[in-house]
Amino acid sequence: MEDSIDPDLTHECLIHDLNNVFETITEAAELLSSDRQWRSLAATLRRSVDRGKRLVGAIPDHTPDLAAVIDDAIQSAQDFCITARKPRIEFLANLSAGIPLPGSAKEWERVFANLFLNAAQAFRRPGLIEIAAEREEDNLKILVADNGPGIPEEILSRVFRPNVSTKPGSTRRSGLGLHIVASIVRRYDGKVTAGNREKSSGAVFTISLPFATARSQAAEQ
Ligand SMILES: Nc1ncnc2c1ncn2[C@@H]1O[C@H](COP(=O)(O)OP(=O)(O)O)[C@@H](O)[C@H]1O
Ligand SMILES: [Mg+2]
Repeated sequence: MEDSIDPDLTHECLIHDLNNVFETITEAAELLSSDRQWRSLAATLRRSVDRGKRLVGAIPDHTPDLAAVIDDAIQSAQDFCITARKPRIEFLANLSAGIPLPGSAKEWERVFANLFLNAAQAFRRPGLIEIAAEREEDNLKILVADNGPGIPEEILSRVFRPNVSTKPGSTRRSGLGLHIVASIVRRYDGKVTAGNREKSSGAVFTISLPFATARSQAAEQ
C-alpha cells in the first residue's frame, strides 16, 4: 500500500518547488540588472520574489507595525502599476511609527495590498489613495479611501463574499481579494466595511480593530 502524503510534507514540497521558481526569477533579475535600462525592473522582480517567499513562509516574517506594513503594500501596488502599465497612483499616508498590529506582517500586507490593488485596477486615470489611522476609544480605526469610480452599487452589500467580482473574464479565483481581507481582519476580532464617498467619487474601506488585541499580541512577540 502507498504511504499517504503527510499534509505538512505537501506544504513543504510546495515551498520547495516554489523556491525553484523564485530562484529562476531571481537569476533572470540578476541578468537584467547588468543592463542599466532594466535595473529598476530587476529590482521590482526581486521585491516580488521576496513577497512571494514571505507569503509561503519561506523567509521569516516580522512583527507588524502599521506604517511599515503600509509602506510594503504601497511598494507592492506601485510595482504592479508600473509593470502592468496602469495609471500611476499617488499615496498619502500620514501614520506615526509604532502603531502595532496583531499577528504577522505578511497577513496585514495581504490586507492592504489587496485594497490598494483593487483601487489600482479600478482607476482609469492617475489616482490618489489616502490612508489614515486614528484611535477611537478602545479601537484602532484604519481608513483607506481612493478617488476612483467607486464600488458598483449592485455588489456593494456583498463585496466581501467569495467570488463577487466585476472583473471581465472572472474565474473561480476572482472575487477572493476582499474575502481574504475580511477573513484576516475577523481573525483579530476586527471589522471591515466598504462604502463609497458621498461628495465625490471613490471607494472607502474602514477597518476597526480592538486596540488591546493589537497591543497585547505585539507585547507577546
Ligand atoms: N477600490 C475599489 N474601487 C472600485 N471597485 C472596487 C474597489 N475595490 C473592490 N472593488 C470591486 O469589488 C470587486 C471584488 O473585489 P475582490 O474581492 O478583490 O475581487 P477581484 O479583484 O478578483 O474582482 C471588484 O471586482 C470590484 O468590482
Ligand atoms: Mg481584488
